[in-house]
Amino acid sequence: MSQAQESDLLKLSKNAMTVLAKRYLKRDIDGNPLETPVDMFKRVAKTIDAAEPKGKGKKASFEKSYYQMMTELDFLPNSPTLMNAGRELGQLSACFVLPVGDSMESIFEAIKNTALIHKSGGGTGFSFSRVRPANDVVASTSGVSSGPLSFMSVFDAATETIKQGGTRRGANMGILRVDHPDIMDFIMAKRDQTVLTNFNISVGMTEAFMEAVEKGADYDIINPRDGKVIKQLNAAKVFNQIVDMAWSNGEPGIIFLDRLNRDNPTPHIGEIESTNPCGEQPLLPYESCNLGSLNLANMVKGNDVHWNKLEETVKLATRFLDNVIEANNYPLPEIDEMTRANRKIGLGVMGWADMLILLGIPYNSRDAINLGEKVMKFINDKSHEESIRLAAERGSFPNFEGSIYDKKGSEPIRNATCTTIAPTGTISIIANCSSGVEPLFAVSYVRQVLDNNKLIEVHPIFEKIAKERGFYSADLMQEIAEKGTVQGIDAVPEDIRRIFVTSHDITPEDHVLMQAAFQRHCDNAVSKTVNFCNDATRDDVSTVYRLAYKQGCKGVTIYRDGSRDMQVLSVAKKE
Ligand code: CDP
Repeated sequence: MSQAQESDLLKLSKNAMTVLAKRYLKRDIDGNPLETPVDMFKRVAKTIDAAEPKGKGKKASFEKSYYQMMTELDFLPNSPTLMNAGRELGQLSACFVLPVGDSMESIFEAIKNTALIHKSGGGTGFSFSRVRPANDVVASTSGVSSGPLSFMSVFDAATETIKQGGTRRGANMGILRVDHPDIMDFIMAKRDQTVLTNFNISVGMTEAFMEAVEKGADYDIINPRDGKVIKQLNAAKVFNQIVDMAWSNGEPGIIFLDRLNRDNPTPHIGEIESTNPCGEQPLLPYESCNLGSLNLANMVKGNDVHWNKLEETVKLATRFLDNVIEANNYPLPEIDEMTRANRKIGLGVMGWADMLILLGIPYNSRDAINLGEKVMKFINDKSHEESIRLAAERGSFPNFEGSIYDKKGSEPIRNATCTTIAPTGTISIIANCSSGVEPLFAVSYVRQVLDNNKLIEVHPIFEKIAKERGFYSADLMQEIAEKGTVQGIDAVPEDIRRIFVTSHDITPEDHVLMQAAFQRHCDNAVSKTVNFCNDATRDDVSTVYRLAYKQGCKGVTIYRDGSRDMQVLSVAKKE
């Protein structure tokens, strides 16, 4: 069978085929594919099923079900699992956090370990909060310290030279607590857009800081070397500086450390200081997590959510992700140990905007928020049910005793966390659905292809509806691609305009409310970018940060259109 025939059979789009051929399929040294997408899904299904812990008696094989769930595009694991399962590297996780201590040994050990993780396709997060500030004393050399920022540039340089598994750029998260003495330099660190390009940076906010912001009060700045308060800063001033920088180019983001720790399932094992690169996965030092996402666009039946199919898929996916922990080849013994002891998995969703469109619900509506919460609660509950069932079969996670689950009368559970909403940047392209819980970016857009040719890509559901309802034309698709939205285009019927809203048609508050709806029933966190129009003000950004805090989000990432020199996605401009 030719690749084209196979992709038809697998319902893979052209874009999906291109991404798979370029980055996921086994290739020879000349870059020619040695496997087809069918082979890839078989390789993954077989490897993950073979990792089923051997226990009492003979177990049923889940290989066929795993294969089907992936080839139907109902669920996909994170990229490293697709790329590496059943292959030499065998590293299957997307997310890692490494400790960075206040010594040369610890810092350069972390840099070495970062290189190993990036080589295997994973992303790394770090807190630099333990590193003493710049110009502090260094007893052993009687010199002065370099500070977290100068060390971050060494991590950045190391990342620059290593591509993840030869397939994608390395990604890092750098976090500094808001009470670290170097916080103002950290906030300003990415003012120059050519530095720390391999880092996302986020300020670790505390409840004490947020309260001081509300009161306009000062708060303590502490030297991590000895825990002593060295001065105070005005909280509102620091907050405004964060807002100002985020407004000007999207960074730093913020994370609410106390909330991450309030939901830390294993406080007896350690404190959460950092997340993975995209912010959705809080982890302990040396912990890794594998993610996977359900495609909600495939979970609609008639005018309703296909609850039965969703339940079945959640349960199978939970089992799959638990097996990934067994099949995984960890880059370091410390990571192996910590990951197996907590057994965190992160089941999430993609295709949420598509599901809403199929159900005729505008993304920016109360109904959408309510349904988002209901769907995520269902997924979270069913995944926990399955994890409890797996614990009966396979045992609870080894750190269960003393964990937040270890209460009188409660049942053992297999995984310290079950749910996470990932960005699904690449796997949503493979599944040809909208990414994560984001609204559509555009209804149609112009794609630059070889030889300066331009191709108009139309959202598949929009194209289908436009053809069925008889308003499809190449000129109209071109007009929509140029505008980036169907709002204000009379040729598109009003009821269709209402449901095909894009990330710039809705308000930043709509973005936050949706993030909060999914966060309410998610063990880990939600990856989401709150989009602002170019003319948004600093006050608008400040309002959204406060709203996210009040709504119980665990962090916020914002982006004001056009505020970065290099913008990955942009709506086509008329030339
Ligand atoms: O869609 P895919 O599985 O490729 O990944 P994603 O959902 O967009 O990102 C999930 C996580 O993978 C991120 O939060 C990072 O931890 C990691 N990642 C990375 O290390 N490097 C990238 N270039 C992209 C993602």
